[in-house]
Amino acid sequence: MRNKIIIGNWKMNKTPKEALELISTLKPLVENSEAEVVFCVPFVDIPCAVEALKGSSISVGAQNMHFEDSGAFTGEVSPGMLYELGVEYVIIGHSERRQYFAETDETVNKKVLKAFEYELIPIICCGETLEQREEGITMDWIKNQIVKAFENVPKENAMTAIVAYEPIWAIGTGKVATSEQAEEVCGHIRNVLREIYDDETAEEIRIQYGGSVNGANAKELLSMEDIDGGLVGGAALKADFANIVNYNK
Ligand code: 13P
Repeated sequence: MRNKIIIGNWKMNKTPKEALELISTLKPLVENSEAEVVFCVPFVDIPCAVEALKGSSISVGAQNMHFEDSGAFTGEVSPGMLYELGVEYVIIGHSERRQYFAETDETVNKKVLKAFEYELIPIICCGETLEQREEGITMDWIKNQIVKAFENVPKENAMTAIVAYEPIWAIGTGKVATSEQAEEVCGHIRNVLREIYDDETAEEIRIQYGGSVNGANAKELLSMEDIDGGLVGGAALKADFANIVNYNK
């Protein structure tokens, strides 16, 4: 049985001081919940977030990393730096990084492989644009993204990965996918993983939905068979995040 995992993607929000304020609001509300909880905070907030969440059930994640161990890559952050700080998860290939920072399926794959070398669990993002959905190519597009992201990833690593299906048209728009639309694609992702690996691996990998998730729509989305959690943007910065985490209470 896959345990649900709710991840807050804070994006480029909250200074370290503000991060500590938000953590002190959210921590008592989401600690010791049935679902696993992760806060993916900006790089500069990681040290204080790790410290503030020490001994709690909440884990800290990053929102990106480089695919090399170290070197002349001005402005980048390496996986070893994240690991040393106590980071456990890292978002890879978010659509905003693909759109604004030229990330490709190839760099996503390199980052996924490198994350596992450092015992970081990748949260691998995929999703289609509105044009692609209207053209009817969503399923092919997603399959391609998943196949490329998992290239050369051994089964024992793949099993621990998290996939986040985030239709681009639903991100930050308030236009949430229906639970049927989200389930259709998450189920498809599981089938693609079954083709790449096997039943056991596909049943183990957790697949999240992301895109305008909030306390009001979480229960319906999270009750779908192949939706094992949520990747939450805007609502992760508010007390409403607790309603998502505690969706079945
Ligand atoms: P919103 O929840 O703000 O739509 O953002 C979703 C997202 O991009 C999470 O990674």
